[in-house]
Amino acid sequence: MTQPAAAPQAATDGVRPSNEKVKDLIIDARDVVKTYRTDDVVVEALKGVSFSVERGEMVAIMGPSGCGKTTLLNCLSGLDNIDGGVIYINQEDINKLSDDKRTEFRAQQMGFVFQFYNLLPVLNSIENVELPLLVSGTKQGAARKKAEAALDLVGLRDWSKHKPAQLSGGQRQRVTIARALVNQPAIVWGDEPTGDLDTTNADAIMDLIGQLNREHQQTFVIVTHAPDVAQRCHRIIHMKDGEIVREEAGQGVRAQAVRA
Ligand SMILES: Nc1ncnc2c1ncn2[C@@H]1O[C@H](COP(=O)(O)OP(=O)(O)O)[C@@H](O)[C@H]1O
Ligand SMILES: [Mg+2]
Repeated sequence: MTQPAAAPQAATDGVRPSNEKVKDLIIDARDVVKTYRTDDVVVEALKGVSFSVERGEMVAIMGPSGCGKTTLLNCLSGLDNIDGGVIYINQEDINKLSDDKRTEFRAQQMGFVFQFYNLLPVLNSIENVELPLLVSGTKQGAARKKAEAALDLVGLRDWSKHKPAQLSGGQRQRVTIARALVNQPAIVWGDEPTGDLDTTNADAIMDLIGQLNREHQQTFVIVTHAPDVAQRCHRIIHMKDGEIVREEAGQGVRAQAVRA
C-alpha cells in the first residue's frame, strides 16, 4: 500500500501505451497445490506455488532435497496432476486437457532432461535421439534427418553410432539434450541436468543450454544444486518445504527477444 498511485494513462481506448512492456508468459502457474497421500502419510509437496516464466527465460530452481523441486517440474509439465491451483502453459490450461491431449501437447511443446529419462542402452545415439519422433509418428527418413541435426547441434555428429556405454558422462548428457531438443520444443525442463558431471562437463552443458536459449529463444527451467549452474540462468527461484521462499537475479544475460 506504500506504492505511489499509477500515473494517469493516456490511452483509454484499451490500447496499451507503446512503452508498457507486455509480458509473454510461457508458464503461468497460480496457487499450485500438490499433496501425496499414501496409506499412513500425507505429504504437502507443493503448498500453493505461484510461478511464471517469460518466453525465452532461463530459470533455475534450487532448494534442499525433498522441498518439492521435482514435484513442481512434474506438475508444470503435466506429468503429474495437481490438487489445486491452475497452470497455463502457452496460454493452455493443461489440467483441462484430456490425458491424450496433454501427452500430445507435451510432445509438441516440451523437452525433458531428467535423470530418470535414461537413454536406452541397446540403441545408439542417433536411435535414442530419434525415438521420441518415431513414437509421435514422424516418418523414419524425416526423423533421422532431425536427429542428425540435433546431434550436430550438441557437437556429437561423429558419435551417432555409439551406444551409451561407449560414451562419457558428458557425451551421454549431450545425447539426452539432443533428444530433448529434437522436436524444437518451446520449453525444456531439466532436473539436475549436470548432476552427474564434473565441473568441466557441467560448464560445457551450460554453454550449450545458454547457446540454445539465445539462438532459438527456447525457455529453460532447470532444477540444480550447483550454485554456479544456477548463476548462469537469468533468474533463480529458491524453494523450501513446498513453497517458493525467495527469488533472485542470476548472472545469465538474456538475448533480445526476436519477434516476427
Ligand atoms: N510419488 C510420491 N509419493 C509420495 N510422496 C512423494 C512422491 N514424490 C515426492 N514425494 C514427497 O514429496 C516431497 C517433495 O519431493 P520432491 O519433489 O521429489 O523433492 P525434491 O525434488 O526437491 O528433492 C518429499 O517429501 C517427497 O518425499
Ligand atoms: Mg528432485
